[in-house]
Parts: sequence; C-alpha cells; structure tokens
Amino acid sequence: MRPKGASAAAWSQLGAAVEALGQRRTPELFAAEPDRVERMSLEAAGLYLDFSKQRVDAAGLEALWSLAQSAQVTDHLRQQFAGDAVNFTEDRAALHMALRAPRNAHQPPGGPAIAEAVHEVLDRMEAFVHRVRSGAWTGATGEPITDVVNIGIGGSDLGPRMVCEALAEQVRGPRPHFVSNVDATELSRVLAGLRPASTLFVVTSKSFGTAETLANARSARAWLVDALGDAAVAKHFVAVSTAAERVSDFGIDVDNMFGFWSWVGGRYSLWSAVGLSIALSLGMDGFRALLAGAHAMDAHVRDAPPEGNAAVWMALIGIWNTNGLQLPSQVIVPYAQALARVPAYLQQLEMESNGKTVNSDGVAVQQQTVPALWGDVGTNGQHAFFQMLHQGPTALPVDFILPVSLDHGHPDQHRMLIANCLAQSEALMQGKSAGQVREELRSQGLSGQALEDAVPHRVFEGGRPSTTILMSCIDARSLGALLALYEHKVFVQSVVWGINAFDQWGVELGKQLASVIDDELRLAVPGEHDPSTAALLHRIVDGRTA
Ligand code: F6P
Repeated sequence: MRPKGASAAAWSQLGAAVEALGQRRTPELFAAEPDRVERMSLEAAGLYLDFSKQRVDAAGLEALWSLAQSAQVTDHLRQQFAGDAVNFTEDRAALHMALRAPRNAHQPPGGPAIAEAVHEVLDRMEAFVHRVRSGAWTGATGEPITDVVNIGIGGSDLGPRMVCEALAEQVRGPRPHFVSNVDATELSRVLAGLRPASTLFVVTSKSFGTAETLANARSARAWLVDALGDAAVAKHFVAVSTAAERVSDFGIDVDNMFGFWSWVGGRYSLWSAVGLSIALSLGMDGFRALLAGAHAMDAHVRDAPPEGNAAVWMALIGIWNTNGLQLPSQVIVPYAQALARVPAYLQQLEMESNGKTVNSDGVAVQQQTVPALWGDVGTNGQHAFFQMLHQGPTALPVDFILPVSLDHGHPDQHRMLIANCLAQSEALMQGKSAGQVREELRSQGLSGQALEDAVPHRVFEGGRPSTTILMSCIDARSLGALLALYEHKVFVQSVVWGINAFDQWGVELGKQLASVIDDELRLAVPGEHDPSTAALLHRIVDGRTA
C-alpha cells in the first residue's frame, strides 16, 4: 500500500485550527490549560519529550490526530515493520529496524530469514572486532592496529562519524578517523597523523561506486602501498558494502568484506556493518548497546497508540509548524558538545528522505514537505544565530536536546549548560512585553523619549515554539534511542505527506554533470553548458580566477 497522504478534509481541518488559533501565544495556552505539560509530554525508551512549548492548542492537536488517522499512519508503520516495499520507487523494504532487533526477537522485522542474516553479519563483525582490538589481527609488519580510518560519504560517513564523536570518551580501542570529502585536504590531514604499519582502512560504500569514496580509497591505498608494498593491502583494507564484485575489483578480498542489504537505506545504515568503525573503537558491547537503544525506541513506536507515540508526536508537531504555521525551517540545538554532529546527521536523514515534491502517484504535492533543517550546539549557538530566533521576523521551531548528566568532572559547568538550555526555551516562549521593558529601563534610570526610543528594540515577541528532549546521559543506549526516534519521525511525516522517504533521485543529476565536467577539466576543453557555467569553466581552465 503506497501512502496516499492525509485527506483533503483533514488538511482543511488543520487550516481551520490554525485560523482559530489566530495570534494566541503559548503563554496564553498555558494559562487556559492547567494540565498542558502532562498532556503534551511523554517518555519513550529512556527519553523524555516535552512538546508543551509548541504553539498549538487542543483543537490543533485534534486536527493533527485526524491527519494521522486519515493518512493511516498506524497501518503504514505496521507495513514498514513487516517488511513491505515501502520504498515503492525502488520496490524495496526499509528495514533498518531489523538491524537492531535482538537475536531472539518474537516478531523480527521482515521475518526470521532477515534476522538470521543480520545476526550472521553481526557475529562476523564481533569476531573481527575482537581480533583487531586484541591485537590478533595485525598489519603487514606485525604491528597491532592503533588507528581506523573510515572512508565513505553521506550515510556511509555521517552516522559512524557522529556516533564516534558523541561517545569519544568511551573509545578503548583503535582511534577512529573519518574521511569523506573528495577535497583531499581531509585525507591528507588525517594521514599526516598516522603510520601505515598500524592503520586499518574501512572503505564503506553501499554501492561501492561513489566517486568521492573511490577517489579517497585509491589515494589511501597509494599511501599504504608506497610505504609497505602491494601485499600489505590485504591486512590494511577492509570493505563494508552490498556490492561484492566491485569490492573485489578494487582489490579488497571479499573475505574482508562485511555485507549489508538493499533494504538498508544509506542514511539509515549506521546500525549495519556501516557501523564497523563504531564497533572497532567502542567495542562490540558498545555497538550492541547502541542497537539496543534503537530497538527500545522501535518497540515503543511499533506498540504505542498514536496519541502516546513519541515518533507520531514529533512528526505531527513538525507538520503543524511546517504546514500549519508555515514556518520555513527547523532548528536542532543539542546542549552537548559531544552531540555537535547531530544536526549534520539529521540534515541527511530528514532532508534527503523527505525533500520531495511528488507524491506516491507521481503528482505534485499540495503542501510543503520537509523544512530546511540546521543548527549547532548550545551554548555556542546562543552567541551566533539565537538573536534571529528571538527577534527575527519569523518564528523558527527549535528542538533542544539536553543530556541531564555528563561525566566530564565539571559539575558547575554542566549546571550552567542546563540553565542556559532551559532559559533559552523559556525566553523564546515567554518573550518580554513592552510593559516589562519599560519597567526594566525605568529601574535602570532611563525616562522620557530616550526610554520610549529604546523600548521596541528590547521587546521579545515570545510564543516561539520549541520541543525539549531530555536524555539521562550521553551513552550508546540513549543515543540509539534518540536517532531511531528521528528516523521514525521522518517515516511518519512521509506517510502524512504521501511521499517516499527512502529514495533520493534528486542527487543523481549533479553527479552526472560532475562526471561530464570532470572529463572536460581533465582535457582542458570546456563543453556545452549554460552561459554562467560555461563562463566559470572557461575562467578556471584559463587560470583567470580574479
Ligand atoms: O548521493 C547520495 C547517496 O546515495 C546517499 O544516499 C548515500 O548515503 C551516499 O550517497 C553514499 O552512498 P554509498 O554508500 O553507496 O557510497
């Protein structure tokens, strides 16, 4: 069953709810609804989510439940867990949940054969991880592996990189490094700190055809071979891929390849062998804890009714802001340095998944789909873009992600971090009225015209929406739950919008053109292009950049 999206009647109900809400601000909603926090917050898989600071009232929530019901969200979730071809343009399932289901799961996503294949690869990973970390697997000269370099891009990079950075304090094995950009500055910088004899490269690519990854892998191989000779490749290169033949063509023995499957989307793949660099540096127990956290969220999303379902809430609140209030972007602010890469990870997850304009019938959608998503860590963001969040002309919803305890041994600083996070969401919602500003300025000795001139610049409109997600701490389990929550949010939104969250045809055209232009640059003969591109190309070929 392809998603048909929410019904026209349900979208009209949403429009009517927005109109009825009018200019009412969130503080007024709190005043009218004494049980607002209880009704608009929930716990799931160890996370606490508070949606009460969103600018939506009871009628708005009713309209959102109608949207979910008319789009048959519950049925679509059931189908996804069953392994139906929810990626309908590629006729594939999207079964990342199968990657984190325990071996003895009662109803494994996609069925028992998939569960068996998943655990076979996990067992192979475990054996390899143990050999590397124990020193039984050595480099060509007999030295143990001290550094692992994952070479991949997009989903073959962002997930493992973000998780390794988030859990860096728990790394007990080889140091993880990541190279994604075709700009070889990144590779050069990583290699500059490494020794070939103790470095293991993990070339990660679902297709094993991604130009950037292959270019970096070739350069890394040349660096290794230069130092240790051709025969060393077998001990210093392993692959993670679905494309055994291409792996072998590249010169990596398929015995040293860890596979996954077409039903694992690139941006949903960190739970598969794509997480090998995570497992090598955290250990298999750490990797399995990540899977367990994600599985706990899967179980919640699969079993909870829509009104108590964290992913359905996340999705519908996003739809309220995007389609109801028509707010153009979504800001993600983790109050944790360790989670600094979460916004970039979510950019791919949300924008590559739901950046679509055509519904399941191939017809243009009537609504905006995914908003632009961006962000940075708090408190840094407060000193950069928060001015716009507080006083810019358009309200932008924020997801605040806050670990309640951190183990860095500086409790005073963590207390400050928490205080800042709570203060920002409170300030965004409460704002500061002209009356409050006047009183404040008067108490500072200002009066008359000078006071009146100052007032408008210091008023905060308030009523600016945010969700706060509390994690007890940053460990593999909580992180797994958090990431799985966003994955399910994305799917639920795609169902309501009636689009496919699991293809990404939009990235192909640029890849094709890049290959054409690369040939033209190699031959220094620009071909036919639009006038702007042609002029730029001629300048570059002629060496006239200024
Ligand atoms: O170009 C987009 C994309 O296909 C992503 O979806 C994917 O995560 C990335 O490229 C890398 O692809 P691969 O793992 O096949 O190298």
